[in-house]
Amino acid sequence: MLIELSDDMPVTCADTILFRLSMLGITPVLAHPERHPEIARSPAVIESFVRHGGKLQITAPALLGEAGRRERRVCERLLRQGLVAVLATDAHGVEDAGCLGRALARATKWIGSAAEDLVSRIPAEILGLA
Ligand SMILES: [Fe+2]
Repeated sequence: MLIELSDDMPVTCADTILFRLSMLGITPVLAHPERHPEIARSPAVIESFVRHGGKLQITAPALLGEAGRRERRVCERLLRQGLVAVLATDAHGVEDAGCLGRALARATKWIGSAAEDLVSRIPAEILGLA
């Protein structure tokens, strides 16, 4: 299930959501972690969520800096720390999906071929397709 924390929700809410959804056999995928003020200040605050099975999904425009330098830096830190499960388009229509290739190329520069897993293997596993 794709979830998002509003800025005023503490990151610990993600742990509570993870626990409750896990009881139902649902894996929460946290969208836009790079936007959350607590995570932006210290990406380590989301480690517990990831360690317990939650997934982080960053988006291509944020990674490419289209949402500002701060979000780009947070994306890079989350990627380099191995906390990201999914790199997504944030597309609200097929016409918005074109930046994924550029984002994948950038991510590959930072973390190597493991970036490919973020757009193929791991999303497929989350969807039960792999
Ligand atoms: Fe979005």
